[in-house]
Amino acid sequence: MNLLLTALDGGSPQRSGTVVIHVTVVDANDNAPVFSRAVYKASLPENSPLDTPVIKVSATDADEGVNGDVTYDLGHISDDNMNVFTIEHKTGEIRVTGVIDFEDRSSFEIPVQAKDGLGLKSYAKVTIEITDINDNAPAVSLESLSNSIPENVSPGTEVGIINVQDRDSENNGQVRCSIQHGVPFKLVPSIKNYYSLVTTGQLDRELVSDYNITITATDEGSPPLSSSKTVQLSVADINDNPPVFDEQSYSAYVSENNKPGSTLCSVSARDPDWRQNGTVVYSLLAGEVNGAPVSSYLSVNGDTGVIHAVRSFDYEQFRSFKVYVMARDNGSPPLSSNVTVSVFISDVNDNSPQILYPSPEGNSFMTELVPKAAHGGSLVSKVIAVDADSGQNAWLSYQIVKSTDPGLFTIGVHSGEIRTQRDISESDSMKQNLVVAVKDNGQPSLSATCSMYLLISDNLAEVPELKDLSYSDSNSKLTSYLIIALVSVSTFFLTFIIIILGLRFCRRRKPRLMFDGAVAIPSGYLPPNYADVDGTGTLRSTYNYDAYLTTGSRTSDFKFTRGLIIDKEEAWQVIFNRFI
Ligand SMILES: *[C@@H]1O[C@H](CO)[C@@H](O)[C@H](O)[C@H]1NC(C)=O
Ligand SMILES: *[C@@H]1O[C@H](CO)[C@@H](O)[C@H](O)[C@H]1NC(C)=O
Ligand SMILES: *[C@@H]1O[C@H](CO)[C@@H](O)[C@H](O)[C@H]1NC(C)=O
Repeated sequence: MNLLLTALDGGSPQRSGTVVIHVTVVDANDNAPVFSRAVYKASLPENSPLDTPVIKVSATDADEGVNGDVTYDLGHISDDNMNVFTIEHKTGEIRVTGVIDFEDRSSFEIPVQAKDGLGLKSYAKVTIEITDINDNAPAVSLESLSNSIPENVSPGTEVGIINVQDRDSENNGQVRCSIQHGVPFKLVPSIKNYYSLVTTGQLDRELVSDYNITITATDEGSPPLSSSKTVQLSVADINDNPPVFDEQSYSAYVSENNKPGSTLCSVSARDPDWRQNGTVVYSLLAGEVNGAPVSSYLSVNGDTGVIHAVRSFDYEQFRSFKVYVMARDNGSPPLSSNVTVSVFISDVNDNSPQILYPSPEGNSFMTELVPKAAHGGSLVSKVIAVDADSGQNAWLSYQIVKSTDPGLFTIGVHSGEIRTQRDISESDSMKQNLVVAVKDNGQPSLSATCSMYLLISDNLAEVPELKDLSYSDSNSKLTSYLIIALVSVSTFFLTFIIIILGLRFCRRRKPRLMFDGAVAIPSGYLPPNYADVDGTGTLRSTYNYDAYLTTGSRTSDFKFTRGLIIDKEEAWQVIFNRFI
């Protein structure tokens, strides 16, 4: 302030003097700083980087100089906030100096103080609202989960409970859950943040035994965050598959006379179930083969399915049979299936030809009469043989291996018919002896022989004797003498007999010398069980034995069974006549 001080005297003219007084008012610190607002509000996204300016506060101080020099400070703040913000003392700008996490704290209320140079203070409040940023991914956790689910659970069964959490708020914390495609499971929302994991279809352990299920949770923030969790589920076995045989049926081929215990074939079945539910055990189903239990024919190894013969088979008894093999698993209850095993027995040449006519060697009274007038090619007799084997093994061929007069008789290789080879002449010996061998065609072949005695004569009276026509090489001469002697003695006796029988011969002039296809076979010469003459006079085949009466023109396998027609009375006549 400038004051003008005037001094006046009392004279006249009055005189005065003036002086200017400069008054300088010195400032006193009488003003405290004053904030422009009582409360400052700011908002700040979380995770703002360090040094981000938040807000600037300002206060004015009316004083001058030091008295008006305002400095700012943050007021007393709790420890946990201490390092989050700072204020610049001079400018009043608040900046970020620490980590700001919305999920930790969503707002701050900070007192600020302004102070002038001499210490006058005033206060204001800064409120900082933190805004959420989508910085937390949802978390998926498993509340419960079945260790394993039986494969037969019905669709819709709950197998686990899932919980999802997102720490963010609002949309950032809104979570959607999903499951990967291609698995028979889905998530069903239950109470807040919880989901049930349920099956949507039938499970089959044999197809898929383990599932890795990935559950993905995504929030609705922008950008969205997601996380996923994989849970492992195993499917427990149920015995739902019966064993299945590799083949629809099995065949085994075995030659007869096999060793008991020999391996015939093996069966195998698969069961995809687990452990004992898929362990297959084989057994024979009870049954009968030809009236005997199957177990007396075959046995099966329960573990391996290998089938063994228990006994030796005989093709001549049966050629094939069928059994059932069962495969059962060890589940409870067990499942099973069965398969047929056909066993085919093949023939081995184990039967030699059986000569039906003439009867086997030693029976000397089988003698044929050959008329002296027989021409070359006349049928004289026939060797009949059968073979119990079949096929080639029963294909018989006939051969004369020894004969009194090699040029006189011939035998049909396949027919067994004995024919004269040339006309009979007077010089031919009356007694002819043939040894015929019958051979089958097996490998190796088996054979049988028989002797046939032929007497060239028209008249039984000429028959010297019939008992001893045995063929003998070394003794043939001696034998001849003996025969002559015997014949001489016998002739007398026979003549006597012939007279007695004369009447009968007169009545029955019918020649019965030629075999004409049908052959008289007295039942006494037939081997037991092979054939029998029954009351009707028919030779009936028993036991299904096929007589292989081969003829030259037949093919090897052609066989025919036939009853041989016999006039029973005539047959006995022949025997009787010859015997006497
Ligand atoms: C599931 O995951 C495990 C290991 O994580 C793995 O060994 C297995 O093979 C997976 N199974 C499937 C079916 O993918
Ligand atoms: C076999 O199946 C039965 C049900 O049929 C089940 O209870 C059992 O656990 C299964 N065994 C194995 C070894 O999986
Ligand atoms: C064998 O199994 C079939 C079904 O696969 C069944 O029909 C048949 O009765 C069974 N046979 C025996 C002898 O058990």
